[in-house]
Amino acid sequence: MAYGGYSYIDTRYEPTGNDFVVLLWARGSLPIEKIAEAIAAESSVGSWTKLRTMNDFVWTHYRARVFWIGKVGANAGFIKIAYPIEHFDVKNISQFQASVLGNIFGLKELEELYVYDISFPLKYQKQFTGPCAGIEGIRRMAGTQKSRRPHVGTIVKPKVGLTAKEWAHVAYEAFSGGLDLVKDDENLVDQEFCRWKDRLHEVVKSIEKAGKETGQNHLYSSNISDRYSRMVERVDYLNSMGLQKNIVVMLDVYVMGMGALQDVLEHTKRRGFATHGHRAGFAAANRGSYGVNFQIYEKFYRLLGIDQMHIGTGVGKMEGSPMTIKRLHDIADQRLLKEKFYLGSLDMGFAPHIKPMLSIASGGLDAGRMDALLELHGRDTNFQAGAGVHGHAGGTLKGAMSMRQAVDAAMKGIPAPQYAKTHPELAQALKQWGYFDPRIVARTMANEKRNGKRLAALALRKGRAGMELASSE
Ligand code: 3PG
Ligand code: 3PG
Ligand code: MG
Repeated sequence: MAYGGYSYIDTRYEPTGNDFVVLLWARGSLPIEKIAEAIAAESSVGSWTKLRTMNDFVWTHYRARVFWIGKVGANAGFIKIAYPIEHFDVKNISQFQASVLGNIFGLKELEELYVYDISFPLKYQKQFTGPCAGIEGIRRMAGTQKSRRPHVGTIVKPKVGLTAKEWAHVAYEAFSGGLDLVKDDENLVDQEFCRWKDRLHEVVKSIEKAGKETGQNHLYSSNISDRYSRMVERVDYLNSMGLQKNIVVMLDVYVMGMGALQDVLEHTKRRGFATHGHRAGFAAANRGSYGVNFQIYEKFYRLLGIDQMHIGTGVGKMEGSPMTIKRLHDIADQRLLKEKFYLGSLDMGFAPHIKPMLSIASGGLDAGRMDALLELHGRDTNFQAGAGVHGHAGGTLKGAMSMRQAVDAAMKGIPAPQYAKTHPELAQALKQWGYFDPRIVARTMANEKRNGKRLAALALRKGRAGMELASSE
């Protein structure tokens, strides 16, 4: 079944190690085979009609190949497409996005299009340097290399509006309560009421003061997101103050676009700063009938060199089932990723020189969710709570203490409700927000192991809706 005069379907094709493999879901007004042809054409070499300019060389070397269709009815299905590496520009992710994640979303015959995953060949990964600090570097900064405990942090709330001095005072209380990290919220940078430099200077004082009490080296994720030239100025300013040991440069990675991100990360690496990626905005292209799964962006963020990255929680306020978030955790810190079809994922290996990045669980958390978070994310992670710290009835200091107590309890193997009997701050958090039983998470994961094949079959029968059902079982 051809589209624009050519057929891109070749079910005998086996992707080579130098191919990109793309897994997507599509539904539309044409037979699914024709939809697959249209997607492959528009994202690689073709268009809607036969081209007099096509030649054998272009066709052989640069076209996309649809090598598998998992049909779900006449007009819908999962599709796997292979793209040759030669198709893509070097160090230019915008070109990659314009191909594989570009025009295809506008084809009028499509009613649903969701790109689940892309596996990047090792050869393509060579152009990227990956995280500069990575998990071990961030642990060195926080002094947790030996203890291996999860990091605990907070986002100062209200999100915006506090003056620099007020903001830094809240940060001081959070540090005093034992938190490793305090961060700007994604929508706070350099507004009139709290200028970036003023806040920075005040927070440095808070770090010094609290550090004397706690003996910890506290970290501040300072949000520099802006147009590129301003981000560079801010990195240089941080460098002139010699703050590499305490500042993690925070970037709203999705909204700034890949090009700016790539350049600013080259600059932070040059200056020796670790980086913190916040993913505000990605859901704009991730929910509903059309979208790109976050795991694709996350792979780029790790390749480009983000050191610690928000990936969702699985048990908090943002979307994402535990198993989906577990996959994002694996993308952050594993080298080999195994395909789990019903969650829409492909096999992929990260190149050996790409360090693991620390995952950040943030959004709707509090001390009562710590045990469940640990069950899901393990210890190589950073748990953060905003309202779960500053909404504590005892205020920020006690809220911070409750979070730290929850982590300490878990490290001793004591469930939070038991530890709370001798730790009133934790007891108060549990009283306010309850306890998320980690056995719920454990059950979901055990279920996945036991029923993997059945869940995959369910996804293939019901399509994207089945995939979501499977991941929430
Ligand atoms: C575009 O980028 O606008 C499309 O490639 C249009 O191509 P067409 O004229 O071949 O449809
Ligand atoms: C974040 O940026 O991660 C959020 O601000 C988390 O806030 P919350 O803990 O108050 O939900
Ligand atoms: Mg936020």
